[in-house]
Amino acid sequence: MNDLLPDAVERWQRIEGVARAVLAAYGYREIRFPVVEKTELFARSIGSLTDIVEKEMYTFEDSNHESLTLRPEGTAGCVRAGIENGLLHNQVQRFWYGGPMFRHERPQKGRYRQFHQIGVEAFGMEGPDVDVEQILMCVRLWRALGVDGLTLQINSLGTPAARAAYRKVLVRYLETRRAELDADSLRRLDKNPLRILDSKNPAMQDVIAGAPELAAHLDDESRAHFAQLRALLDGAGVRYEVNPRLVRGLDYYTRTVFEWASERLGAQSAVCAGGRYDGLVELLGGRPAPAAGFALGLERLVELLSPPAGAPANAPQVYLALIGTSVVEPGLKLAESLRDLGLRVECNCGGGSLTAQIKRADRSGARFALLLGQEEHEQHAVAVKDLRAGAGQELVGLAAVGDYLRRKLA
Ligand code: HAM
Repeated sequence: MNDLLPDAVERWQRIEGVARAVLAAYGYREIRFPVVEKTELFARSIGSLTDIVEKEMYTFEDSNHESLTLRPEGTAGCVRAGIENGLLHNQVQRFWYGGPMFRHERPQKGRYRQFHQIGVEAFGMEGPDVDVEQILMCVRLWRALGVDGLTLQINSLGTPAARAAYRKVLVRYLETRRAELDADSLRRLDKNPLRILDSKNPAMQDVIAGAPELAAHLDDESRAHFAQLRALLDGAGVRYEVNPRLVRGLDYYTRTVFEWASERLGAQSAVCAGGRYDGLVELLGGRPAPAAGFALGLERLVELLSPPAGAPANAPQVYLALIGTSVVEPGLKLAESLRDLGLRVECNCGGGSLTAQIKRADRSGARFALLLGQEEHEQHAVAVKDLRAGAGQELVGLAAVGDYLRRKLA
């Protein structure tokens, strides 16, 4: 769980600001739901045999002996909130959310126990048009952030019935190669065999390569849905790779699944992932409603941003140095009047020599230092020093200094 220091926060805010604008451009509205939910919600939706539910949840009993869990992802809470507030029945909805998620995973670069997602969920649309729209939304987001080199993988998981039939075929095959399975795969064989296809263990790759493909066992409707998805992506000029081994680590998916990854991130390469989950609303007690969404990992995405040039966007524009205690009162007033004009002003509090205050002004990132001493105060003026333009300073009357600064900063 990481502390985010002010420089990092500013980079995050850039992503959040761009995402907010891009999501609004597609009609997505923000929804906020609790960080803590009943444990059962996650067990039912994500799947009790998934890694997340089996070993990664922060679960505790509250004083009413109710089992609660810090949310490991946002889809379950979003669907619960939608059902409880009557937003999903016979309606088309587009929601987005952001915030911390918690998984007790083995920490490494790009994998944390508290991490942050921006997620979107769309309800009431069968797709694949809305699936493609969500992918286009990602494309626009990457472009707006100046992030390139991300690759898109897609797959279709079909209906639960098709997947159950495929599961039998897969288990039969894996049994024939039981001796080659690693400990993780052996554990998954009975419970969640599809996840074996997702194994990153090099020793397992030969077994995986020989496995029957889910694509060959898809039901006709899912096959048509996937063909249409690909045609729409082609029509939109989106490049992608069909990865028949892409299965995802959460059980609620049906049909379309996708993942954006970057080689620059090392082992934890997935930046953004999602897909359809047409059965989840009903599973959680709502009337059946098709749904699709994705979530991106902010810690990973921020790694891909180029470092910002120059001073942070919210750095002060003006640093007001106050020389001597007698000018503190007029100084605070002057700072307020400049802020009234919309300027960002850092006022020197706590005294200090002129040299020390100029140093602070430099470090603050402000373009201008204003020097107010007893002498300037008596002349109803302030000395203005352009910190980015060599030495020299100019005496400007108090009544004019606001306009003077605004003109220079425009
Ligand atoms: P997910 O694939 O588990 O999907 O997570 C989505 C993204 O969150 C990942 O691609 C990754 O960037 C980031 N992420 C996941 N775990 C960690 C971690 N431990 N540390 C850092 N980043 C992480 C979901 O959560 C689904 N709810 C997405 C979705 C929404 N599907 C439909 N709607």
